[in-house]
Amino acid sequence: MKVYVTLCLCVYLHEALAESDSDAILENKDVLVLTKSNFERALKQHNQLLVHFYAPLSGQSLGSILEFREAAGALKEAESDVRLGGVDVKKEKDLAASLNVTIMPSLRLYLSGDKNNPVYCPVLKSSTSIITWLKRRKGPSADIISNLTQLDKFIGEDELVVLGLFKDLEEGIVKVFYETAANIADLAFGVTGHDEIFRKYEISGDTVLLIRKSEPDKQFEMGSGTVKNDLVQFIRLYEMELVTEYNGMTASKILNSEVLNHFLLFINKTEEGFEEIYQAFKTTAGKLRGKVLFVMIDVSELRNGRVMEYFRVRSKEAPQVRMVNLSDSAQYQLPSDQFDARTLLEFCLGYLDGKAKPKLQSEPIPENWDTQPVKELVGMNFEKVAFNHNKNVIVLFYAPWSSESRALFPLWEELAEHFSEKDVVVAKIDITANDVNLHLGEKYPSIKLFPAVYSERVVPYSGKRKLKPIVTFIKKEIEKAKTDKAKEEERRKKYLNEQKAAVKEEL
Ligand SMILES: *[C@@H]1O[C@H](CO)[C@@H](O)[C@H](O)[C@H]1NC(C)=O
Ligand SMILES: *[C@@H]1O[C@H](CO)[C@@H](O)[C@H](O)[C@H]1NC(C)=O
Ligand SMILES: *[C@@H]1O[C@H](CO)[C@@H](O)[C@H](O)[C@H]1NC(C)=O
Ligand SMILES: *[C@@H]1O[C@H](CO)[C@@H](O)[C@H](O)[C@H]1NC(C)=O
Repeated sequence: MKVYVTLCLCVYLHEALAESDSDAILENKDVLVLTKSNFERALKQHNQLLVHFYAPLSGQSLGSILEFREAAGALKEAESDVRLGGVDVKKEKDLAASLNVTIMPSLRLYLSGDKNNPVYCPVLKSSTSIITWLKRRKGPSADIISNLTQLDKFIGEDELVVLGLFKDLEEGIVKVFYETAANIADLAFGVTGHDEIFRKYEISGDTVLLIRKSEPDKQFEMGSGTVKNDLVQFIRLYEMELVTEYNGMTASKILNSEVLNHFLLFINKTEEGFEEIYQAFKTTAGKLRGKVLFVMIDVSELRNGRVMEYFRVRSKEAPQVRMVNLSDSAQYQLPSDQFDARTLLEFCLGYLDGKAKPKLQSEPIPENWDTQPVKELVGMNFEKVAFNHNKNVIVLFYAPWSSESRALFPLWEELAEHFSEKDVVVAKIDITANDVNLHLGEKYPSIKLFPAVYSERVVPYSGKRKLKPIVTFIKKEIEKAKTDKAKEEERRKKYLNEQKAAVKEEL
């Protein structure tokens, strides 16, 4: 209690002191804490004030708060003229409203104390891009390249760089290039007017080149009517490769892409058949550039465990493809186990047309799910039925489009008839439309027994897909579950008795 009171007192005093000192504005990790009462003062004190508007509890803001702090620290250390401040929009509702702040997180640069005409900063995702943006605003926004040696160095600097080739580096259309560079602070920009470089790339007019791994990849010819947005769109469209492999380096680019439909291929890169599927995926990507972002996730890479967990894809289920709509997080599964370019393209086009069905946690429970011989399970009733203490349940996990799955349906009817009088529930579940919280371990179709008595037990069946061996398997496992349970009970009783005896002895 005492600690708590002391702590509160300190915090209170700290804030009171900051408020009573009429000049100093409270800082948090080099970022000025801006409020309704000190905002005007901050504008007066700092000729260049970059303000971060955020909502502290949103995941997006959290990342940007950390990056912003880092930038603030770096700028302070470099004795920059720019000061950084933050506004917690949830707390400072009045201030945000008076400044017309509607988007969070967002950045604005206030110059010369002018509250009404801030420079809107594009959303920058890292501290280095914040610093680059500030730098490019002031100085030349692109490196001037004046000879081939310098060019070599520049194009080797990064996997992707943007090179502007202009006859005039001062006036005219080159200004659009500079404005674009100032806006896209996460890429390196170079500009040249050097004849040798024009010749090297066989270019005659004003052109912007995207250079990937030191090789020219895409080019954009500047016309007299080209505006900044045209160039920004061109760069944003082609900055990613047709297929981007997910890894630590690419993750943030993928998540921050302006393309919000992501088509994910989960695949084992070292497995046979990879190349063929990858090529089909890439071909499809070429047809949907700018509409859908194609991402490949190698399931044999341990570091991809988290992303696979998120999408509930297990390495044994690969190859698998998923469409994700980043606006609403809905996921869509390819209704096929064929991964040829035609199937992939058809699915993507259908999705873009709004025709695909999202993958749900569970389909609704079918009205007559338990009146047929074979019970139809869905996500919502799966656990209740399968892990039922009183029932032996044999479940077929299937995908409706898989012919191998469908081939088992008649067998399932037979099995249901066989067990119609006995205490075995024969059921099936479409695992492509229902999420079950169970390690299936293998691809559909798969068969598993959930014996009664030992209700937490799951026994996979891998024998012949024929009536007799399955029946034998079920009977054997039912008996085994009973015996094992009895043995366990016995052990438990024995243990309890021992405990009791020990307690008695101590008394
Ligand atoms: C906010 O928007 C209103 C209406 O558009 C405008 O009159 C006002 O000047 C704006 N305030 C600021 C600080 O930009
Ligand atoms: C290329 O240009 C840079 C910068 O202007 C200069 O430092 C360098 O000496 C030049 N190199 C050659 C080979 O001309
Ligand atoms: C990927 O494929 C290779 C080669 O077939 C295999 O050895 C490896 O276990 C697979 N990895 C996973 C995670 O399935
Ligand atoms: C993605 O989700 C958003 C928000 O729900 C929706 O407006 C949009 O149509 C969806 N896109 C597709 C292609 O379904």
